[in-house]
Amino acid sequence: SATEKGGWDSFMNKEIHEDPAAVGNTLLGRFNTSGDIVLDEVRIDEDVFRSIDKIIVVACGTASYAGLVAKYAIEHWVRIPVEVELAHEFRYRDPILTPRTLVVAISQSGETMDTLMALRHAREQGSRVLAICNTQGASIPRESDAVLYTHAGPEIAVASTKAFVAQITAAYLLGLYLAQVKGTMYRDEIHQILDQLKAMPEKIEWVLQTQSDSVHEAAKRMIDAHSFLFLGRHVGYPVALEGALKLKEIAYTFTEGFAAGELKHGPIALVDEGEPVVVIVPSARGRDSLHNKVISGIEEVKARGAFTIVVAEEGDPDAERYADVVLWRPVCPTLLSPLVDVVPLQLFAMDMAMLKGYDVDKPRNLAKSVTVE
Ligand code: G6P
Repeated sequence: SATEKGGWDSFMNKEIHEDPAAVGNTLLGRFNTSGDIVLDEVRIDEDVFRSIDKIIVVACGTASYAGLVAKYAIEHWVRIPVEVELAHEFRYRDPILTPRTLVVAISQSGETMDTLMALRHAREQGSRVLAICNTQGASIPRESDAVLYTHAGPEIAVASTKAFVAQITAAYLLGLYLAQVKGTMYRDEIHQILDQLKAMPEKIEWVLQTQSDSVHEAAKRMIDAHSFLFLGRHVGYPVALEGALKLKEIAYTFTEGFAAGELKHGPIALVDEGEPVVVIVPSARGRDSLHNKVISGIEEVKARGAFTIVVAEEGDPDAERYADVVLWRPVCPTLLSPLVDVVPLQLFAMDMAMLKGYDVDKPRNLAKSVTVE
């Protein structure tokens, strides 16, 4: 009913606008007075965390892309390998699991059967399992050794939105906590990132307040497109995958998300006149040349007639050069940028579906949680 939707026209719209709160609430209560991370609730000894030498994230769908973001952040901060595996593939390939492996099962519902079976397998092999879950007391947290709850609140729309940003936030907390107990980063450095993380809800809010019109404009112009390409690099890569999935799920459009560096190894063959290409551009402030590489990717597709929708940092001097539409991201650290970059893509999928007259909350053929293998 309209009351349940709190005045919004759909649950999805309501839930996208709850992205800032989902991040903020997931951070709440996870620090002591000195500003260090306390994860007492997870009930795994610090000694055990200290001994972890590998992480394997198991998840499905949107949750698996949160895992991919976690890989970039945790490997950088903690210097241990992080693998991300689709839960349904994991169990059937004889994965290498030891007591020093931490398996992280990410699931909004906590009831996804593929993920549940994967974690059971990991525990049978003697690894510890930590669940990142949005649903208190669900099967996945119940069967895990530990749980770090996301506090996104109930997610009703089938396509996941606020739960995704909350999962990423929880994964950052886990990574920074590991860095804290393992001593792989200076305390000041961890505190600085935590402060930047605490500033993210406001930045997401800014995107919602200021970028929705441009998103809507892009959707209107691309309403008749039959397919979309999404590309990103580094942490922009999982964002591209998630943007592509959202559009697939609710607007029923063929999409492919891929790493921008792969463009020349295949996908560019798909680009001709009018093909919409969505590109996540990394900050130009970094030391590396990723920004320029992604910009030249945009130039390549533009030269072949693509319609380009570009997500770029405010003030990026190159963003507008080959862009038909620019969606701005506020300045933030690269590793945290998925929290803001996914927001316009969530809005975009919703706008496309609405313009086509589809039910954005209940897309055809999909279930909110898939409780069969
Ligand atoms: C279903 C939903 C997706 C979701 C996936 C994983 O396929 O339609 O939106 O990402 O399951 O769900 P989970 O509850 O485990 O996060």
